[in-house]
This record gives sequence, C-alpha cells and structure tokens, in this order.
Amino acid sequence: MATENIYILGIESSCDDTAAAVMLNGKILSNIVANQKIHEEYGGVVPELASRAHQQNIVPVVAQALKKAGITKNDLHAIAFTRGPGLMGSLLVGTSFAKSLAFGLHIPLIDVNHMQAHILAHYIEEADFKKPPFPFLAMTISGGHTQIVKVSSYFDLNVIGETIDDAVGEAFDKSGKILGLGYPAGPEIDKRAKLGNPKAFKFTKPKVDGLNFSFSGLKTGILYFIQKETKANPNFIEENLNDICASIQYTIIGILIDKLKLATKETGITHIAIGGGVSANSGIRQALKDGEQKFGWTTYVPKFEYTTDNAAMIAIVGYLKYLEGDFSAQDITASPRLKI
Ligand code: KG4
Ligand code: ZN
Repeated sequence: MATENIYILGIESSCDDTAAAVMLNGKILSNIVANQKIHEEYGGVVPELASRAHQQNIVPVVAQALKKAGITKNDLHAIAFTRGPGLMGSLLVGTSFAKSLAFGLHIPLIDVNHMQAHILAHYIEEADFKKPPFPFLAMTISGGHTQIVKVSSYFDLNVIGETIDDAVGEAFDKSGKILGLGYPAGPEIDKRAKLGNPKAFKFTKPKVDGLNFSFSGLKTGILYFIQKETKANPNFIEENLNDICASIQYTIIGILIDKLKLATKETGITHIAIGGGVSANSGIRQALKDGEQKFGWTTYVPKFEYTTDNAAMIAIVGYLKYLEGDFSAQDITASPRLKI
C-alpha cells in the first residue's frame, strides 16, 4: 500500500484514439477518450489523419482529464505514456507530449507497453471486479492484436501465441466490409449475431499449429462464399444478414476458444483474462462463461471502458512502475514494433 497519495497521468495515442486518464493510488479519477470519427469514411485507420487528429486532441483531452479528476498538473507525480506498439506517427504525438510535460513539471516519465497495459488493466482498483491471481493466461483481442500471454507477475509476461497475419478485430471488420457494414463492423456483427442462426453457414477454420492464430484465410473464405451466393441471388446478403453475422461470429469464437483450450492444456493454467476491443463481444463473453462450467476455467473480463484502447490502462502500468522506481530517460523514443 502506498503511504502517500500518488497521482499518475496516463496518455495513450497508439492508434486512432487520443486518451488521457488520471489515477490516484490505482483508482481511476478520470478516463477520457476522444475517438477519431474521420476514419469511418475510409473503412479503416488512415495513419496520416490519425497523427493529425492526435495533435489536435491531445491538449484538450489531457486538460479535460485533469479537470475531471479535480487536480492540476502540479499535483501529478509522474507521466506515463504508450511507447508502442502502434502507428509511428500516432505514438510520436503522445511520446513527445509526455516528455515535454514531464520535463516541464520536473517529474518522472514512464514508458508503457500498450499490450502489457491491456493485460494489467485488470489491476485497476474497481469494487466489483476481481483481479486475476498469478500465473494466469491473458488473451488480448482487438483490431490491432491477437495474443495469448502467460502472465507470471506484473512484469514477467511471455507471449505463447499470436496471430501470424490479421488480428481478430480485423476479421470482424473486414468481414463486415464484405457485407457492406460500416467501420468498425465488430459491434454491428455482434448485434446481428444475436438475431441469427450461428450454424446457418459453415466457414472453414484455419489450421495453424500450436497457439498461433491466422484470420486472413477466413476473410478470403467469406469473400468467396459471398461472391458465389450473390451471383445466384443478388439479395443474398440482405435476406440472410443476421444468419451470416451469427455464423461468422460463431466461427471466430470457435477459433479463439480452441486455442484457449490448448493453452490451458499446455500450461496447466486455468485462470483466463481477456482484454482489447473484441472482448466487448457478447458471444466471446458467453463462451468464456460457459468455459467456467465446461472446462473449470476462472475467467476475468475487465470493465467495458478498460477493454478498448484507453489511458486508464496506461496509468495503471505507470503506477506499478512508479512503485518500482522504474522511470524512463528523456531520450526514449516511440517504438512501433515494441514487443512484450
Ligand atoms: O481495442 P480496440 O478499441 O482498438 C484496437 O484495435 O487496438 O479494438 C477495436 C476492435 C475493432 O476491430 C472492433 O470491430 C472490435 O474491436 N470490436 C468488436 C466489438 N466491439 C469492438 N468486435 C466484435 N464484437 C464487438 N462487440
Ligand atoms: Zn489496443
């Protein structure tokens, strides 16, 4: 337990969300996210536009986070920022801003790995959420990442499986694009899946050895299937949209659960935590809950606002590193391909 009040400012700018959060001793006081709507019309994140929007948003987002927390910048003990992985132009904005602010305030600067942050988001103090005990398995599933990580302590993380091509969120988004849905399509597919038959159509699951994932073949399979069916019936998509969405979601969840089953078998670890935007998916949440009964798992799903990209998760890693005295030098650089 900290003996004094430690205020940490977290800053996240790795992709298309500009986010800032203030944390006091592991508890979130404010968690502000500015989503960049501009990418919707392009059907995906446009890096140049993302960095420009970060530059526009970062000062107001940080100001709002401080205001909502009821503190001023002079109350802060450290600035934590996302160093990587992510888009270079996006990371540069948060990195440069964090450095200048820490320098100006004469307080420590703390670099944070975005993937580690998705996992350690489970340690944000929240009354109704239990924290996973070490060791546990973390599955990070989002538009940019798909990994299974063995977590032995806050700072001892091992990636034991990851995607060899697309991330699982991309599988949702690219399938949605084929179906003419807006970007990002994950939430819409989820909504429609609830109204459809998951076994209406069968898609082939990829065959990838071990704990790695692949989603690009599934996307191609869906594309060919839709092309074939719409040739025979031009209204095929609109007449079957809920069933198609349910079948795609069922296939994707099957892929994730199969790998989790293998991971628990190989490691003997049955505590499973998920994070990343796709963990908002109602089907994956249900499948994990079912896994508690069926396979004896204990599962952990973070509060919704800590699953998608946010700065609260950056602040918690910042706080844990602050307690260790693990600070960064001012010549640290953004690192787009940073590994865990
Ligand atoms: O973590 P996130 O906000 O950003 C990164 O990609 O890092 O995740 C965004 C991804 C998108 O691909 C989006 O389609 C997906 O999460 N997503 C969902 C759902 N909500 C968001 N996918 C499936 N079902 C959902 N309910
Ligand atoms: Zn992320």
